[in-house]
Amino acid sequence: MTGTLTVLGLESSCDETAASIVRRTDSGEAQVLASIVLDQAGLHDAYGGVVPEIAARAHAGKLDIAVERALDETGLAIADMDAVAVTAGPGLIGGLLSGVMCAKGLAAGAGKPLIGVNHLAGHALTPRMTDNAGYPYLVLLASGGHCQFIVVRAPDRFQRLGGTIDDAPGEAFDKVARMLGLGFPGGPAVEDAAARGDPRGFELPRPLLDREDMNLSFSGLKTAVLRTRDRLANGKCGGISDSDRDDLCASFQLAVAECLAGKTSRACHHFMDSGFSRSADRRPLLAVAGGVAANSLVRNMLSRVAEDTGFSFAAPPQEYCTDNAAMIAWTGLELFDRGHRDGLDLEARPRWPLDPDAPPMLGSGKRMAKA
Ligand code: KG4
Ligand code: ZN
Repeated sequence: MTGTLTVLGLESSCDETAASIVRRTDSGEAQVLASIVLDQAGLHDAYGGVVPEIAARAHAGKLDIAVERALDETGLAIADMDAVAVTAGPGLIGGLLSGVMCAKGLAAGAGKPLIGVNHLAGHALTPRMTDNAGYPYLVLLASGGHCQFIVVRAPDRFQRLGGTIDDAPGEAFDKVARMLGLGFPGGPAVEDAAARGDPRGFELPRPLLDREDMNLSFSGLKTAVLRTRDRLANGKCGGISDSDRDDLCASFQLAVAECLAGKTSRACHHFMDSGFSRSADRRPLLAVAGGVAANSLVRNMLSRVAEDTGFSFAAPPQEYCTDNAAMIAWTGLELFDRGHRDGLDLEARPRWPLDPDAPPMLGSGKRMAKA
């Protein structure tokens, strides 16, 4: 650790244009001095998903504004930064290129080091910034484009224990919302409807839950929701009733949460059995990250799993679960501290697995071809 460090981070891998300034003090305390997130609300609504070209153009137009706001809020200048960090992948190539080009310009103009950050590493390291998590710990990354259990050993050392073999859970939330006529992004809309519904209203499958491994699948569950909707709507020209829709959302949400909780319990046992936990007097940590971690039922069920398996539990505040640049600035800061530097030849990488030794998960992250 080399005294106080201050880093500017940029994020533009999907549909949030974000800039943040994060500081780590002498004593190791993380301070988010500014976290600006400009969403693209409205731009993609008509399509039920993120349209890469529209997203890229919006990023190119908004990155400067996000950076300016972060600097204004803190009263700092680029000259006050120790480094400029930017999401270099995985994600949508147009958005990544916008961010990487912007960061190169800022770093080169001010003579500051440039650090390319893996977006998934940003999510995985968030509990270090928000909860002072000590290495190694177990994290469940559950988002719109990815879902995996990761042992976080260092800012550049990750081991994947398992993950989705098809859709990501956030993607399933988004598709279910779309088929039930709810808004985009689907997660918050489905959670809202689910709060009014009966989670036992419809019987839905729990794919792969009976298997011993740490893999998940959400594609069949999504199809089961579609079939149920069609059966209910059959013969009714106005579609399904509001109460059926709410019950279906609640039943779907419970199925996702139970699948995540069941596999998380296996991952916790595996973490213990594999000797990852180094200290006998410190409880191992289970953390959750990514947009789906904003879901209250998911958080509650995972916190219960942690309790039952002897882990402590960290769930970052919602603003740091969904995409943001503070997690990128923080990860850049940790990498900088360990001597990482990128040159102006830094390239955007649409695919960038966190654990290069893990076999690729077929079909994983289809929506955004993330990892
Ligand atoms: O991490 P994130 O902001 O972007 C990606 O890297 O994918 O995650 C966005 C995803 C979306 O699919 C969204 O529907 C889901 O997270 N999400 C939720 C909730 N809030 C966001 N899913 C379930 N419940 C929520 N409250
Ligand atoms: Zn993300």
